[in-house]
This record gives sequence, structure tokens and C-alpha cells, in this order.
Amino acid sequence: MIAPRVRLAALVLALALAGTGAATSQEHAGHQMGVDSTGVGWRMPPQPRPSPMMLPGLMGTFPDLTAFLPGADLDPTTLPDAVFREIVEMSDGDTLRLEAGFVRRTIGNRTFTMYGFNGQYPGPMIRVPQRSEIVVLFTNHIDLPTAVHWHGLRLDNQYDGVPGVTQDPVEPGESFLYRVRFPDAGLYWYHPHHREDIQQDLGLYGNMLVDSPDPDYLGPVNAEDFLMLDDLLIDDAGLFPYGREGAVQTLMGRFGNQLLVNGEPRWEVTLPRGEVRRLYLTNVANSRTFNLVLKGAELKLVGADVSKFERERVVENVVLAPAQRYIVDVRFGTPGTYALTNSIQAIDHFRGEFYSSVDTLGLVTVLETPGAIDYSAEFATLRENTDVIEDIDRFRSEFGRPVDRELELTVRAGALPSSMVAVMALDTLYFPPVEWNDAMPMMNYLATSKNLTWILRDTQTGLENRDIEWKFTEGDVVKLRIHNQRRSFHPMQHPMHFHGQRFLVIEMDGIPVDNLAWKDTAVIPVGSTFDLLMEASNPGRWMAHCHIAEHLEAGMSMVFTVDPANGEP
Ligand code: C2O
Ligand code: CU
Repeated sequence: MIAPRVRLAALVLALALAGTGAATSQEHAGHQMGVDSTGVGWRMPPQPRPSPMMLPGLMGTFPDLTAFLPGADLDPTTLPDAVFREIVEMSDGDTLRLEAGFVRRTIGNRTFTMYGFNGQYPGPMIRVPQRSEIVVLFTNHIDLPTAVHWHGLRLDNQYDGVPGVTQDPVEPGESFLYRVRFPDAGLYWYHPHHREDIQQDLGLYGNMLVDSPDPDYLGPVNAEDFLMLDDLLIDDAGLFPYGREGAVQTLMGRFGNQLLVNGEPRWEVTLPRGEVRRLYLTNVANSRTFNLVLKGAELKLVGADVSKFERERVVENVVLAPAQRYIVDVRFGTPGTYALTNSIQAIDHFRGEFYSSVDTLGLVTVLETPGAIDYSAEFATLRENTDVIEDIDRFRSEFGRPVDRELELTVRAGALPSSMVAVMALDTLYFPPVEWNDAMPMMNYLATSKNLTWILRDTQTGLENRDIEWKFTEGDVVKLRIHNQRRSFHPMQHPMHFHGQRFLVIEMDGIPVDNLAWKDTAVIPVGSTFDLLMEASNPGRWMAHCHIAEHLEAGMSMVFTVDPANGEP
């Protein structure tokens, strides 16, 4: 680690360079703050904590895209007030009408024009039995084209909801019929797959819970809570604008300064002493990775994206990258108040130091009176899930196979403002394996999908992003090696998601993983190499990408095909 003083000195030098650079607003004079017809313009992004110095070279420089806020021209008083999500229990063959539209949202004591599925925040929670199939009649009432992706499901390829890969975008006013099937028990979610940086951020997301027919699939608990974790970027003028032609904040992704649980600033619950709650956690943020802590409570990690773990395990905290899910059982043994926090080591690039930052996401009040049913004994038992172990046993002989495909994660800068390049060149020294906060919002917002490209590179062919088209056959077991380059212009962790299949993270930096679970999203820290074993079980043409919404917009996606085993097209 570099001594803070040295780093500070380097940064002062960088600032001096930036200050003398010719890069100012003239560079983007044509964009004149990108003001559009609705009067939305660029402004300085909010700072995470007061900085000791400004970046003179960056002042007055604006992103090379038009500032955009959906619904800026609508009268908010004419919009429906969003209501808290409902839980929709569905059976095989049922139909759900799902509409994306504008809503008026109240967060704290401020109101915003946002989006909602069926006027709700989050979208309806769809609860279905395993191996069922439902029909979703989707209608788009927002102002942008869209499509709904059913994240993590091994569903029929044509209903995967990816414009340009599995369907045409659903234009405003149009509809699309999805048939959604649920082969695996677990926790999933749905969200748009077009300009997620805007649409998902403005509230278009919902959970799906697939129940196993086995009543003992998971241990008994007193109650369940579904927590969708998110953040939103707000300043005195309202929601911070997005880019109209593409995404801004593509360097680090869009970090919000208002954390949200199920769309609200705080989750609160009161319960009797000794209760065991099952938390179904989903990270729906554009870029933020959460480190969840529930101090004083006992936590047991039960399940991940697409399956339970082989063995339940007591944990202190849960790290959840965008799109990931975890199922965690929690026991509250003594009366009192427990805080659910996001507890991170934030980095301050100006001071060249880490500082600890704790945000309260929820408060759990535990009463003196004990609950009616006591599941303490069941909670204390760490279950070994033989169903998961036996399922994975079929693949263990493949763990040592040679690597079939290899990806390298990196970034390429285009026409960035030169003042920004000067600062960035030195700033590369400071990057931790995981970025927990946006410590340089000025530079981040100047990076756009136009001037920065995030790259998935196939190291065997040299092909990048959408030039890659891997071919597999149904039934193939594929070993993928993913390396996140440390020596790039701006290294950052990437939550990599593969559509329509399931995989195991079998090795991290050469160390075998000892407690496996099936996943669809794995976060690769800076400098790390992960080996994934993917079961190519579901035919079709699928996308794989980084789930940081702004990285996806900045190019970080590829396509792979799984041909049916019977050889039919
Ligand atoms: Cu959650 Cu390609 O998506
Ligand atoms: Cu990424």
C-alpha cells in the first residue's frame, strides 16, 4: 500500500497539471451544459464528503451527452402516487398484467417523477411454485423503449427480454407477451434490459420467489422479509440527470447518495424476542456493492442466486454486488434495537486514505415478549444440503478440466477531457479491489458511454465485447476463466452475469471454493482471477455482461449460443 502522504503529493501534482491544462468548457462548447428542451441541464454532481480542494481543470467541464430526466415535462400532480409493492401468488398457467409507467414517488419528504411497474415500488413480488410457468402481458407506458428481463431464470430464450439479442425493444405504447418458466427454486428479480442506467434506477425492478415443493427445502422460520437494496442520486435540485444519448458516470457507475430498501430510506420492523427471520436480499443498485451488517444479531447464510449453499454457515456480514441475491436467516435473541447497516471502508481520493462509513438501512425492534413458536434449535443447526451436494457431485470431475474459454476485463479511454486524463493517470495508484463508494464524482460524471469503453476480451481470439460469439452445445460443461486486469487505466470490480444458465464459482485466485452454490452473477475484484464452471443447459442465444448498468452501456457485453443437443436449429 502506498503511504497516504505520497499519494497526496501525487494528487496535488495531478491537480496542478489539471489546472494548467487547456481542457475546460470550451472542449464541449457545443453541448453548452447539455440543456434540453425540458430545461434539464448539467450541474456539478454532489460530493460524498467535503473535499479540501477542488479540481480546477474540471470545473466548467460537462459530459459530452445531453442531460436528461424522464418526465421532466410532465406535471407531477397528474401522476399516480406510487404504492408499496404487493405480493402476487401465482400458479402454473396464470397470467399477470405488468405495466411500466410514470409514478410520483415520495422519498423522505420530497417527491420525484419516477417509473413503476403497476404503479408500485418495488414492482410486484411474484411468488410461484417451482416448475410452473406464467404468462406476463407487458405494456410499456414510459417514454423510452424497453423490454423485461427475468434475471437468473433458465427460461425459454425468446422470452429473455434482451433487445437486439432475443427480441425487438417494446416501444412506448406497445406490448409484449412473455412466457416465464421457473425450473429452479430460489430468489430472482426482473428489470428492464434497455437503458437500465435510467429505467432500473428510476424504480423498474421487482422480485420473484420460486418455492420448492419440498416443505423442508429450507429450515423453518417465523417470518420472511424481502429486501431490495438500492441507491438514488439526489441533490438540492432533485434527481441528478442522466445522459440522453447514452450513459454518464461510466467510470465507476452511478452511485446514489440516498440508500433505499424497497424504495424507502429505511426498513423498520418490530418483532417478539427470539424470532428467526428469513431475509431475501437482492441488490438492484446500478453500481453499488453493499456490505450488510446486522450487529448483535446472529446471521446464517443459507442460499445464493440460483440454489442453496452446500452447507449453511454462520456469517458476520454479507457482501452483495449488483444483481446478486442471498438468502440469510437471522435470529434476534435479546430485546433491543438492531441496526441493519451498510458498513464499508470508503476511499477518499483527495486525502489518499480510507475511512469507515456506516449507513443505516434498517431498524429492527425486538420486544421483551417471546414469540409463540421458538425455532432457536432449528436455527442453531447448520444444515448440510445433500440435494445441492448431490447435484454438484455430477460436475466435480470437471473441476480440474482445462480452461475452455478465457475473458479479460479491462477499459479503454476515448476522447476524455484531457484534464481528467491527467488526474486519472496518477489516480490509478489508489484503487482497492472493490470500490465501495464514488470518491471522484466529478471525473465519474464526465466519463460517458461515448468517451469510455469497458471491455470483455476473449484472450484466445483477441475479440472484444459484441464481436465475441461463443458456441456451446446443450449439455456442455464449460470452464471459464475471468481475469480482472489490475494494470488498466481505471481498474474496478465487475459483477459478471451470464443469462439463461447457472454456474459455480469453483476457484478464486487459485484457491478452491469449499462451499458451493449455483449462481448467475459473480463479482470479480480488481486483480483477481476466478474460475467458473458453467452448465450450458439451456439452448438459445444469450447475453453475458457486467451488471454495473453504466459499464453495460459502455460496451461491456457479449453473446454466447447454446445449440440444442438434438442438433435442431
Ligand atoms: Cu439482470 Cu442482463 O441482466
Ligand atoms: Cu463492470
